[in-house]
Amino acid sequence: MTLLRIDSSILGEASASRRIGADLVAALARVNPGLDTVYRDLASAPPAHLDGAVLQAVRSDITQLNDTQRAERTYNDTLVDEFLAADIVVIGAPMYNFSIPTQLKAWLDRLAVPGKTFRYTEAGPEGLAGGKTVYIVSSRGGKLAGSAAETAMDHQESYLKTMLGFFGITDVRIVRAEGLAMGETARTEGLAAAASEIVKIGGRKAA
Ligand SMILES: Cc1cc2nc3c(=O)[nH]c(=O)nc-3n(C[C@H](O)[C@H](O)[C@H](O)COP(=O)(O)O)c2cc1C
Repeated sequence: MTLLRIDSSILGEASASRRIGADLVAALARVNPGLDTVYRDLASAPPAHLDGAVLQAVRSDITQLNDTQRAERTYNDTLVDEFLAADIVVIGAPMYNFSIPTQLKAWLDRLAVPGKTFRYTEAGPEGLAGGKTVYIVSSRGGKLAGSAAETAMDHQESYLKTMLGFFGITDVRIVRAEGLAMGETARTEGLAAAASEIVKIGGRKAA
């Protein structure tokens, strides 16, 4: 069984999602003996943003590509293949400006390849990357998981769930630490909520 762990926080050692993600992966490794872990740090090695040249390299017939485009294609294939191969994916996903880090968006843009992670049929889109469990490690300075007015401002968890659903992934679980910028008490409570989720996960099979 393979686990792909993604980090995207730009805050390095100070990052909450990185610490929580590491704890979550350790818990999953305890309940899934022999788990192989693949790690990708999108902040230290971000995929280039999707522009016209990248799109052409990713989607054109490979025989039409020059050497630079072939290298881009190989890199993109690596991202897609490691995502498709994973049984479990843990995505460290801080909320930045009500959405996700630009590096995480760039990664998702690279995964959205027709014929690999989705396709369109006469009945509409069909996800091709199902059968895996995805954990979203959601860290937030504020609290947005309460009222309808709060959740309307969430373009982080909701966006990730939409993209993962588009890829055919129905088993999406959230480990959330929120209120982290709202004073010591709220921060402690937010981190404790995530820790208690991880304790529960550590006691059961993940996928
Ligand atoms: C650039 C930036 C933008 C942020 N925007 C938001 C925001 O829109 N809403 C929010 O609740 N918290 C926001 N925060 C607070 C982060 O969500 C919080 O610091 C969280 O711990 C980030 O996760 P990390 O520590 O893993 O990077 C922002 C933080 C940064 C650095």
